[in-house]
Amino acid sequence: MKINDFKLERYFAQHEFTAKYLLSSSDCDGYELNYILENASKEELKLWENLKLGYTESEGNPLLREAILQHYNLNSIENVVVATPGELNFISMNVLLNATDHAITVSPCYQSLSEVVKSIHCELSFWKPNSEDWTFNTEDLEQLIQRNTKLIILNFPHNPTGSYLTKHQLNEIVAIARKHDIYIFSDEMYHKLIHEDTEELQPICDLYEKGISLWGTSKTFGLAGLRTGWLVSQDKSFLQKVVAFKDYLSICNSAPSEILSIMALNNINAFLEPNLKKINSNIAVFSEFVDQQNVITNFVPPKAGSTSFVQLNIDNSALEFSNTLVKETGIMTVPSEMFEYEGKYIRIGFGRANFPEIIAVLDHYLKKIRNGSN
Ligand SMILES: Cc1ncc(COP(=O)(O)O)c(C=O)c1O
Repeated sequence: MKINDFKLERYFAQHEFTAKYLLSSSDCDGYELNYILENASKEELKLWENLKLGYTESEGNPLLREAILQHYNLNSIENVVVATPGELNFISMNVLLNATDHAITVSPCYQSLSEVVKSIHCELSFWKPNSEDWTFNTEDLEQLIQRNTKLIILNFPHNPTGSYLTKHQLNEIVAIARKHDIYIFSDEMYHKLIHEDTEELQPICDLYEKGISLWGTSKTFGLAGLRTGWLVSQDKSFLQKVVAFKDYLSICNSAPSEILSIMALNNINAFLEPNLKKINSNIAVFSEFVDQQNVITNFVPPKAGSTSFVQLNIDNSALEFSNTLVKETGIMTVPSEMFEYEGKYIRIGFGRANFPEIIAVLDHYLKKIRNGSN
């Protein structure tokens, strides 16, 4: 099996650990290990202190699967499989799809949500939003369905646009999928990062018998370094196939990460609330900045998630803009080319504490360009 490079991850690899400022990260700042331990209960600390570093259960530590279940309406740990988020995406597509199948995915998208499907040689259609306000239309989705459609891939809260569905829309999608007997893989990596008046959606696994929910500790919790993700589904036979496929990849999970993930899941608010506060305050900083310049032209504040996708009023490409920006200011941004999306956009990530400082540097740079002194 051959697969194209993951452009966004390769671009990050080039700049993430050398650029002075990261303006496009989708995760929130990583919490320190001590913060997790300080928030843990006595029993959890015992698990940590007595931890043995042998192999672990392929499906995930049963205590971790219990801790995950409390955030869903399903009630058996057999409905849960733990692995890294990217691995679960990769495995799910490979378990569900054959080359003769057709799949539909959101676009723009985190590249693995399209690329893994392409690597299986399936036909793939893109469900695109209105680029004025990033809303998605369920009628457009229904029109993409074909006789051989096997899978719809969703990602709400949406990376990169910050778009979200209404409950009504999600119910419509479930009805469409049920009518055509189609699986829904719902990448819910930004679950619970919900802003202002937005109403939180239920995970797809709670709504649909052929729904598969993906979530993990990277975004909502600010714990990307744990590399913990999980699938939850009513379809236990699908999950058993995922576990069998995993034998060819990680086999089982990192034992320390599993215990730390239990602590985080049992104490979600200690992680989520500071992240939401930071994201909201950074959105306010960005709104004010956008009003005072003319390079960024269409800022749609995210309804959910930690990112937005803003249009650039520039002559060169978004990639050229990002390359020049990182060279001249040390600010790394991800251009739309990394999402294989037409037009000139960059992703803005609101999850970092130094966001106001980055915006001050960007503001200074844009003013310098405007005055022709660069
Ligand atoms: C939509 C989406 N799905 C999956 C992932 C993968 O998560 P992780 O980086 O924790 O493997 C990401 C990461 O950016 C993402 O944005």
